[in-house]
Amino acid sequence: MEKLIVEGGRQLSGEVRVSGAKNAALPLIAATLLAPGKHTLHNVPDLRDTRTFIKLMGELGVTSERKGDVVTLDSTHLVHAEASYDLVKTMRASVLVLGPLVARLGRAKVSLPGGCAIGARPINFHIMGLEALGVSCTLENGYVDAEISTPLQGNVIYFDIPSVTATENLLMAAVLAEGTTVLKNVAREPEIGNLVDMLTGMGAKIQGKDSDRLTVKGVTSLRPADCRIIPDRIEAGTYLIAIAASGGRGTVTHCNPAHLPALLEKLKATGLIIDETRDTISVSWPGGTANSSRKLQSVDITTMPYPGYATDLQAQFMALMAIGSGVSLINETIFENRFMHVAELRRMGADIRVDGSSAVVNGKGMRGLSGAPVMATDLRASSSLVIAGLAASGRTEITRIYHLERGYENLVEKLTGLGARVWKETM
Ligand code: EPZ
Repeated sequence: MEKLIVEGGRQLSGEVRVSGAKNAALPLIAATLLAPGKHTLHNVPDLRDTRTFIKLMGELGVTSERKGDVVTLDSTHLVHAEASYDLVKTMRASVLVLGPLVARLGRAKVSLPGGCAIGARPINFHIMGLEALGVSCTLENGYVDAEISTPLQGNVIYFDIPSVTATENLLMAAVLAEGTTVLKNVAREPEIGNLVDMLTGMGAKIQGKDSDRLTVKGVTSLRPADCRIIPDRIEAGTYLIAIAASGGRGTVTHCNPAHLPALLEKLKATGLIIDETRDTISVSWPGGTANSSRKLQSVDITTMPYPGYATDLQAQFMALMAIGSGVSLINETIFENRFMHVAELRRMGADIRVDGSSAVVNGKGMRGLSGAPVMATDLRASSSLVIAGLAASGRTEITRIYHLERGYENLVEKLTGLGARVWKETM
């Protein structure tokens, strides 16, 4: 087991390059199941989750090779259509093979993902949508058994909640269905637009990219993809918040500012200076860097589906508000248990009170936190502990850092490149 050590109190500066988006890479890797042949994906981040997903694809018969950030996947020969519990329990996104396997092979057996730290995370919308396309889904022994007796039939599908992976799963099933499918009240996250672009490049007929309605005209076959993964907006936002929390100034490169509309507005509302170009975002304090007199305005956030404030950046912003100069109200509307970082931040001196899906953060000021031993509980909670550690005085030791490694490529190298004193130690 390893732990991450963060020596706080140093102002970060310089540039950090964002990797490809984890939450785009996973559905796009799954989509290679839709067409036999050799697919090429560019800008694929090398993370625990992408390695796990590629391993799952290997179990299905997909051979793959990575050269730098380019991954080729050959899905010509699929050996079976089952995603086992052992793999699915470590990564819920494995459910994304359900739609493409049914579309390609006419059947799929995928373990129910089960809950996770941040919530129950049911997949009822995935099942509802597939059944609307004519798939027979039976749930037994912890698995979803999906099968079609006749070809997938297009239909109109309405999602009660704009679910990211349910939208992706149904999109991947609909592209090979007979007739037209209309997906209503879909999620509009940029990662879905990336999938739409990939599928269109493979020969799919999809209208409504980035809107809340996707209209898919089914085709009989698709060709292999050659596609680029979009920048990771959550990684970009995490580093912007980290630089700000350290009192420093810096630039995130190879990102897409248009994918962070809510975060950039909220950072400006705290009094920080945000400068954007086509593929960079810079953050600084008025007058450059923070000095002891600098105060961060406390700001409220409410997490919402895109383009609202991203739930995946809620924990990180809470760490920033912990050193604010007033009171911040943080409403988490997407997941029912996404305040696991609060208890750990409190260990560092944060003044936070949770009431149901809301947290009230009473900012302690720029030097209000002190380093402490803390424990990571889930991917984004663990990044908020790193941010708090950078802002705190003294040393913070974070255990269970495998959570971090799921979604942040080369985290230690990237933070060190910004001037942070962070390193891993074996426990
Ligand atoms: C995706 O998860 C992301 N994961 C999550 O990122 C992200 O937090 C989430 O979208 C919201 O933006 C990937 O893309 C791999 P949802 P997903 O379905 O698709 C409920 C990270 O840190 N719901 O959009 O699982 C659900 O419980 C991860 O990178 C149902 O009720 O989220 C939640 O309350 C964490 N039934 C809401 O919808 C369903 O069938 C939105 O969840 C599906 C979802």
